[in-house]
Amino acid sequence: MPTADVTLNDVLKLLAEPVRLRVLALLERAELSVGELAQALGMAQSRVSNHLRLLRDADLLLERHVGASTFLRVSDARDGDASSHHRIWAALKSELAQSPEHTADLARLERVLAARRTKDGDFFDRVATEWDKIAGDFATGEARQRLLSHLLPREFVVADLGCGTGYIADALLGQCSKLICVDRSEAMLEQASKRLTRAGHTALEMRRGELDALPLADGEVDGVLCGMVLHHLANPDAAVREMHRILKAGGSAAVLELAPHKEGWMREALGDRHLGLEAKDVLTAFTRAGFVDVALDPLSDQYCPRTPDGDECSLALYIVRGRKKSP
Ligand SMILES: C[S@@+](CC[C@H](N)C(=O)[O-])C[C@H]1O[C@@H](n2cnc3c(N)ncnc32)[C@H](O)[C@@H]1O
Repeated sequence: MPTADVTLNDVLKLLAEPVRLRVLALLERAELSVGELAQALGMAQSRVSNHLRLLRDADLLLERHVGASTFLRVSDARDGDASSHHRIWAALKSELAQSPEHTADLARLERVLAARRTKDGDFFDRVATEWDKIAGDFATGEARQRLLSHLLPREFVVADLGCGTGYIADALLGQCSKLICVDRSEAMLEQASKRLTRAGHTALEMRRGELDALPLADGEVDGVLCGMVLHHLANPDAAVREMHRILKAGGSAAVLELAPHKEGWMREALGDRHLGLEAKDVLTAFTRAGFVDVALDPLSDQYCPRTPDGDECSLALYIVRGRKKSP
């Protein structure tokens, strides 16, 4: 029966039944399935169903269906347009609080909710050791990275310097107004172009160039990212100066780098010029270039390449970041 057809007399009859008041009081405290509600009332489900139908027809309850279960809660009576039955229910509520039946209902409700918490908790207790395998089955693995990138202001222009195959840029697609990928290698830029196909509203530009003489204008970007590139450069300081030049005032740069290590084979196999870089040297380069709020973020994540003998080695990583002074 729609609300408009319910007379005041109907409402008074509806709310004159103590069980229905107890139902409302419980469902105001928690959304419950019909079974949970019956348990909290200490009644058979069949006895509760008719009351639920009447309360629902009077728009006092809302239903939510999950698979075969129906969950119920008291509908909202918003200020200003509370219906007569919401107002009467509000007036009756304080009286109900004194009743021993309601006190017993609350004690049973607490047990029902505790059982629900145990049931839900048990599931995760059981799967905790397997969870990374279960939840790690993302098609591309990019979902979590992209979540973070949603914090970027949409109008941002970002440069990914030494973009390689576009691994970092991928997380930014659709999240900023323009993404400029720079690399000295034409082949890498080609691979990045193939990867970066879902640009959305992001304008994408691939520019070939050197990190110590960037093909970008002064103040062209709001943000600079540079991942695993400085250790390839003859002169990392010059690259950091260039990062500062291309940033707008107030813009930020962040560099992901390898800490010093002893894996000499990486020169030959991975084209590394330096076996990692001291974080303090990168911090100094940032400060010398004019960056402010320069900071080091050590990372627990590690870079784990395979040696030519097939062994895995774990190398420490860190991030250095800084901001170009606002005027
Ligand atoms: C290890 S890859 C990193 C790729 C990517 N940033 C990432 O995190 O997956 C290094 C990239 O830097 C580029 N690179 C090396 N020296 C460069 C230079 N002087 N100027 C521009 N790009 C350079 C290489 O071509 C390569 O694509």
